[in-house]
Amino acid sequence: MAFLDWDQTIALNIDQIDVEHQKLIKLMNAIHDRNNESVNNKEQLADALRALIEYTKIHFSSEEKFMDSFLYPGIDMHKKIHKDLLAKLETISRDFAASDQSTVPESVFLFFKDWLIAHIKGIDTKYASYAKKA
Ligand SMILES: [Fe+2]
Repeated sequence: MAFLDWDQTIALNIDQIDVEHQKLIKLMNAIHDRNNESVNNKEQLADALRALIEYTKIHFSSEEKFMDSFLYPGIDMHKKIHKDLLAKLETISRDFAASDQSTVPESVFLFFKDWLIAHIKGIDTKYASYAKKA
């Protein structure tokens, strides 16, 4: 079983964004799986974390472009939330690379999972319903 499965409860019913959320979950699950392998390669895990951050950036800018396309009034607040998460992820990634830990702490996955679900359900749904009315 995957660490997190995408399902209809977090669907926005906007194809491109749903596909991007699925990809984010897939990247996170892949790191989680690799983390639990008996032979860990810290460098590979650190690279995978970087890749997750890079894709998160791509996804956020895609969402921001989308919100911009229909002049979503909540865009500034939404951008700030994205920026804060990216700063946190950067810190997590730097701390892991500098630590003597060979695996990514489970708390990192739990944080990202909870953040993502809460963000999609609580914040992304707002621009999604606005977009449908726009
Ligand atoms: Fe978002």
